[in-house]
Amino acid sequence: MTHFLVTGASGLLGLNFCLAVDGKKHKVTGVDYRNPLKWINFKMQQANLTKPGSIERIINEVKPDVILHCAANANVDDCESHPEEAETVNSHLPGEIAEAACNHKIRMIHISTDAVFDGETGNYSEIDMPNPLSVYSLTKLRGENAVLAANPQALVLRVNFYGWSISGKRSLAEFFVNNMSEKKQVKGFTDVVFCPMMVLDLADVILEANDKGLNGLFHCVGPDVMSKYDFGVAIANQFGFDPDLITPASVNDGGLTAARSPNLTLSTKKIVAALAHPLPDFQSGLKKFQSQYQHGFPEMIKTLVE
Ligand SMILES: NC(=O)c1ccc[n+]([C@@H]2O[C@H](COP(=O)([O-])OP(=O)(O)OC[C@H]3O[C@@H](n4cnc5c(N)ncnc54)[C@H](OP(=O)(O)O)[C@@H]3O)[C@@H](O)[C@H]2O)c1
Repeated sequence: MTHFLVTGASGLLGLNFCLAVDGKKHKVTGVDYRNPLKWINFKMQQANLTKPGSIERIINEVKPDVILHCAANANVDDCESHPEEAETVNSHLPGEIAEAACNHKIRMIHISTDAVFDGETGNYSEIDMPNPLSVYSLTKLRGENAVLAANPQALVLRVNFYGWSISGKRSLAEFFVNNMSEKKQVKGFTDVVFCPMMVLDLADVILEANDKGLNGLFHCVGPDVMSKYDFGVAIANQFGFDPDLITPASVNDGGLTAARSPNLTLSTKKIVAALAHPLPDFQSGLKKFQSQYQHGFPEMIKTLVE
């Protein structure tokens, strides 16, 4: 049994990882901050991790085998408006946690993003040169560099995922479902392509990568490439919504604060070789996402926050 300390346990990835993993083969302790969780079976710590001494205190108390660091400011436009806070949370904090993990001989898995590239070409490999276009992507790149500098044995995963979150607003998939279920017209960007992975599939890959002892930088996104518009249409078809509710649009007409990379596709050859099997496909992930909806999972997790 592995004991995971999961930061960002009230967030989209952290919560789904904790709920899926705790009490199965593994044990989980989560860390939340402004959205404390209740009614959950796994143990929690509440902390502002950027406060000096907090990560050291938690490590000494929890004594985990692995730290899965999901906490971040993952709101791209908020980072653009609050660059100093983004730098503290996304760049400095990961390095501090990596150093603490190294000192305590604890394994660290750090979650980064596909958005570190400028998206001029796409299908980027781990040796391609990042060129961040926004405060979010620049601070996330600095964060992964800080992690690997402080702790070369850490595993850094550049990801892109969707699933159900406590706020109901953290993933693009939720945006499409929330609006189309109320027959509201939405825009779907035809000029941004990406490789979405269902969060439960990502949780499985993280566990497997940990079991295999992978370290260093890996790209870990879905194997299927699609535009954000295509993603919305696939959701409409899976859920039985009217796909004409999605208007094809350009990201330039989206009114977004921060610049977005038009091509977020990553090559996953390295992780596929390391795991010795293909990554979970898009359609099976989408079916899981719908099945959770049918079983009331999105409503259930909303009750977990105070
Ligand atoms: N969502 C995506 O599609 C996507 C794509 C690529 C990469 N990523 C990366 O994946 C990771 C997880 O993203 P997510 O979407 O799950 O994020 P999220 O839903 O926005 O959750 C962020 C989490 O970080 C916690 N947090 C923020 N500041 C903190 C602090 N100072 N101290 C302690 N906890 C703090 C939040 O706690 P409270 O809410 O309790 O305050 C929350 O649990 C991030 O590293 C993100 O950059 C996400």
